Amino acid sequence: MAATTPTQSEILKYLKDKAGDFVSGADLADRFGISRTGIWKHIQKLKTLGYNILSHSKEGYKLLEIPDLLTSDEIVSSLDTKWLGLSYHFLEKVGSTNDHALLLAAQGAPHGTVVIAEEQTRGRGRLRREWLSSPGRGIYMSILLRNPLPVRVAPQSTYIAGLSLAKVLRLEYGLDACMKWPNDVLIAGRKVAGILTEMQSDQDYSRFIVVGIGINVNYSRDEMEGPFRYPATSISIQAGGAVKRREVLLGFLKRFEQDYGKFVEEGFPSLIPDLEEFSGILGRKITVLVGEREVSGIARGFTPEGALSLLKGDGELEAVWAGDVTRVEANL
Ligand code: BTN
Repeated sequence: MAATTPTQSEILKYLKDKAGDFVSGADLADRFGISRTGIWKHIQKLKTLGYNILSHSKEGYKLLEIPDLLTSDEIVSSLDTKWLGLSYHFLEKVGSTNDHALLLAAQGAPHGTVVIAEEQTRGRGRLRREWLSSPGRGIYMSILLRNPLPVRVAPQSTYIAGLSLAKVLRLEYGLDACMKWPNDVLIAGRKVAGILTEMQSDQDYSRFIVVGIGINVNYSRDEMEGPFRYPATSISIQAGGAVKRREVLLGFLKRFEQDYGKFVEEGFPSLIPDLEEFSGILGRKITVLVGEREVSGIARGFTPEGALSLLKGDGELEAVWAGDVTRVEANL
């Protein structure tokens, strides 16, 4: 699947504006300064991308249905954001959207740049794990953030992204989604999304942060049975039917812009109530791998600085800044 050319985008936009009406080949040819055969070729291309366009020898063309694509044509004009995604890069296939975003960052891409791929060939998870990235089934996205944040604080962008996604899934899809600190979103105890944040810093402050998010949207049960380290699921499995990736993406970008904006302007403590409401581990006994060391305790909440507070067996509280939750025990 190749992205549209500028002319194809314009034709598409015109057909959308005329929603439900026929547009004659002559009108299009005139408007875009090309032959009717040229128009026909562009329409054929749009059809191969999945646009359902009715062609009628006398009446012309009518757009009947729009496919669930994450291309600029389908996302940018529908964005309900002030800065996030205004620089939008859609790629049909890439090694990793995080790598691509890091490259764009080095070339000076602006704050809020979003990179989306239909497919990743080397999608990366945490701890060098592979991230399943089949075309059409998920959202594979990286967001470039340029606010200079203290190096210890910057990784908190990870759980703000998790929070925003859990909100979309719970509030817009009615799914019982929660965050598994620091980088997973779960539904029914299974992982539906993972986040990998990478940053470049100058001594104490981040120069830029890339938040990479992989969301399992329309994977089938069979596809989610793969040999994953953590049991996996998709939104469609949990919702009981296919879900439009485009709507999940637009909803997420809007909420993430709000949550991240609050984090930058008002600080981490302003998000603690939301984080606690959407967290799936609070009040539970968990084990966290911190580097080589395992720490177990009851997850009590977040400190105002942004660490996870664990009440250990010896009665001491430990603030954990980063780690991998390896075990979650049943509700206490
Ligand atoms: C994890 O759970 O281990 C994190 C998974 C992160 C996957 C996403 S998909 C988009 C972005 N590009 C990558 O290569 N990885 C992240």
